[in-house]
Amino acid sequence: MKYSFTEKERNQVISNFMQDGKVISVPAKEKKKYILSVEFTKKFEEGKAYSEQEINAELLTMFSKDDYVEQRRYLITFELFKRTSDGTQYWLNRDENVEVARYILRDLHNSMSVINCSRSIKEAIMIHITLANPDHVAGISKVCSDGYWATYSETRSEKYIQGIIDEFYNHDRILKEVSEMSRDWGGYIVALEDGEVIGAIGGGMIGEDIGEVFVLYLDPDRRNEGIGTKLLDALTKQQKEQFNATEQWVSVAKGNQKGIPFYEARGFVVQHERPGYHDIEGESYPALRYYRKI
Ligand SMILES: CC(C)(COP(=O)(O)OP(=O)(O)OC[C@H]1O[C@@H](n2cnc3c(N)ncnc32)[C@H](O)[C@@H]1OP(=O)(O)O)[C@@H](O)C(=O)NCCC(=O)NCCS
Repeated sequence: MKYSFTEKERNQVISNFMQDGKVISVPAKEKKKYILSVEFTKKFEEGKAYSEQEINAELLTMFSKDDYVEQRRYLITFELFKRTSDGTQYWLNRDENVEVARYILRDLHNSMSVINCSRSIKEAIMIHITLANPDHVAGISKVCSDGYWATYSETRSEKYIQGIIDEFYNHDRILKEVSEMSRDWGGYIVALEDGEVIGAIGGGMIGEDIGEVFVLYLDPDRRNEGIGTKLLDALTKQQKEQFNATEQWVSVAKGNQKGIPFYEARGFVVQHERPGYHDIEGESYPALRYYRKI
């Protein structure tokens, strides 16, 4: 259930029911409750997943101990947040207004193409990099599968490729990987255009201050637009800021000319060769270990 309200109504509710950022009493009217819940959503970033504990902690900065559980329920009934079915992860439900704004921007983007505006302006408008949530599972599965086919179809058997895709890019696995994050696996970070996944990266820590890129794929039609760099930058930021990484590693299949020039352009330097990770019926491919300081 959603309500529309004016700025004046909002200000009235805030001044009647809040003091110093805390709710002093919960209004009886549903619409006023809604206004407070909308106020609460401003503490969160769009596209980011939050644990139930994080939501509780934020609720308790605004509502009393007696009220916060009920308020958490309102976030869902008012459709301001979405959550996983087990209730462990929450994320902001994208506002319809944002959706409308995206359509306007897409039109703008199209007319800009006509006047051939610079790539960076178009990207700044269109591409949004964010931590993935369960809404993105199908999109991640698609870009990774399509990306894997496009990268390896000339050098590996169909059986091998399908085996890798079935194991790593299936729905259940990705759902788990966007829901359970840790130091070892920081979750998927996605590039979105009009809400659609066009690229995905994921990594984790493999040592005290050593990060690793585990996976990076794009919609094959969207290579060389700077999207891979944006995704790598976001993962690097996560590894540096959350986990204090000072170096970063990646394994790239030997001979992968769709990946190696990218990593080399981003400052990675090859260190050594290692045997392939996956042997499917005798098919296995060596990998190069690349490293850079971050
Ligand atoms: C690797 C990948 C994710 C990179 O993303 P991207 O959006 O295409 O890359 P960007 O546009 O951000 O950057 C490309 C950079 O690599 C360089 N580059 C790309 N291809 C190159 C080539 N063939 N020769 C030289 N440089 C090349 C570009 O010059 C650019 O560097 P610059 O910004 O300094 O000019 C993407 O190309 C991809 O999906 N490749 C296939 C899948 C893959 O190999 N994944 C990695 C598995 S480990």
